[in-house]
Amino acid sequence: MADSSSTPPAAPADVNSNRSTTPVSTSFRDYIATQWADRDETLPAPREAAAFAAARRQRISAMHPGERLIVPAGPARVRSNDTDYAYRAHSAFSHLTGWGADAVPDSVLVLEPRFEQREGGMEPAAAGHDATLYFRPTAGRDSDEFYANAAIGEFWLGPRPSLAHVAADLALATMPLSALEDVLESTDATTRIVREADRDLTDQVDGRRLLNAELPEPGAEGAIHGGSAGTIDTDGDAVLLRDLSELRLVKDAWEIGQLRAAIAATKQGFDDVIADRPAITAHPRGERLVEGTFNRRARAEGNQVGYDTIAASGPHACVLHWTTNDGPVVPGELILIDAGVELDSLYTADITRTLPVDGSFTEVQRRVYEAVLQAADAAFAIVRPGIRFREIHAAAMAVIAQRTAEWGFLPVSAAESLDPDVQYHRRYMVHGTSHHLGLDVHDCAQARRELYLDGILEPGMVFTIEPGLYFQPDDLTVPPEYRGIGVRIEDNVLVTESGAENLSIGIPRTADDVEAWLSGAAA
Ligand code: GLY
Ligand code: MN
Ligand code: MN
Repeated sequence: MADSSSTPPAAPADVNSNRSTTPVSTSFRDYIATQWADRDETLPAPREAAAFAAARRQRISAMHPGERLIVPAGPARVRSNDTDYAYRAHSAFSHLTGWGADAVPDSVLVLEPRFEQREGGMEPAAAGHDATLYFRPTAGRDSDEFYANAAIGEFWLGPRPSLAHVAADLALATMPLSALEDVLESTDATTRIVREADRDLTDQVDGRRLLNAELPEPGAEGAIHGGSAGTIDTDGDAVLLRDLSELRLVKDAWEIGQLRAAIAATKQGFDDVIADRPAITAHPRGERLVEGTFNRRARAEGNQVGYDTIAASGPHACVLHWTTNDGPVVPGELILIDAGVELDSLYTADITRTLPVDGSFTEVQRRVYEAVLQAADAAFAIVRPGIRFREIHAAAMAVIAQRTAEWGFLPVSAAESLDPDVQYHRRYMVHGTSHHLGLDVHDCAQARRELYLDGILEPGMVFTIEPGLYFQPDDLTVPPEYRGIGVRIEDNVLVTESGAENLSIGIPRTADDVEAWLSGAAA
């Protein structure tokens, strides 16, 4: 069977042979294969993340005794024709390996279950799994890949590490990707794969499951290993994905350090935007300059942005995920900037600040801003281990209902609006108040509701608190002076043993501090 996972991506000579100029003469091939200096094979000490990744592997291992777990990094994704998007490994893969922006595309982590002889036969061993990282190592000079393959070749994309280098760096056993075929050979119904990470590899695993399924005895009931002959039971895959998501609900010390660093880099990005205001307000597409200035810092300090930067000036702030960013940035209006630097480890910040473009809030802008800040502070005040995640949203919504009722925007009282069957105040804030944050901006998204929205907070959890108020430009329920104002204040919060720490407290957030920041008075 063809093994597409270990077949290197096609060289452009295959897909664009009409414009290939690579010489094919034997003299050239022989010549380019020779006279290269030996590689420096000094092995690195394990990176700091390696020990943390090993502990995470142990935890997922203990949850899946006797099952083979396949966690692909995933392929490079095509943008168009022979150009790809910037590569990013699947988050579960990075979490379990510690390999971030430097991960090699198509790599696969396999946790092979250990079995031991017991009375009654082989049983899953207490000691769990053996982890092996399969990847495409550096190509030798004896192949033509290094100069002729523009998709992965060293002359085109830069060198890949050796098996020994990655084994030392990540403190993991490594094997060439071509050896994955042996693993696939023995795939059966006890294999679990993160399906969404690599569709081609998943198709191969499914094919092997079908091929290797034990056929029922003629006349017997059909279910084998939880599946029926001729069908693929993917429930186990879904459980693995869920468990990997839930594994990330509580961050370890290394992850918390990464998030602090991502937030510090994000602060620099906001500082850059503030310093760049003269150019930004002078340009007809000033929002694009905001995006460019922030993203420049993200590329300089980290891997990239953790999500598309939202640079929403004036009424664009009422579009929750405004990423078109093609409008002007106009003095007298507010600009809502929702942006986060993703580090090389792939951990990202997720920060929103809403700034008065000319440096001072108008009275009505300040009134809205302070209501949102009050909602954020009310939410933060209740965060401690033992409360339920959804209580944070409820605390913020109590303030939003109260303030919008006071202003006369609701057809009922705040208390009546807060009734789950009413909720008129949500017209002005339709999104949630908090989400977990980590390797993904919306981290742990496959966790069960009982552990996420209905879950109990534990020390080490990191999430956003991000209430907002958005008065659409054509909303007839609010006075004209409110229309087109959108404010969100988003901070990143760590649950501690005794309460909570606002990790982004260093980024000015009160109205006065924001004005001081814009005037150059704040650090
Ligand atoms: N930046 C997207 C969000 O705040 O969830
Ligand atoms: Mn967010
Ligand atoms: Mn955000």
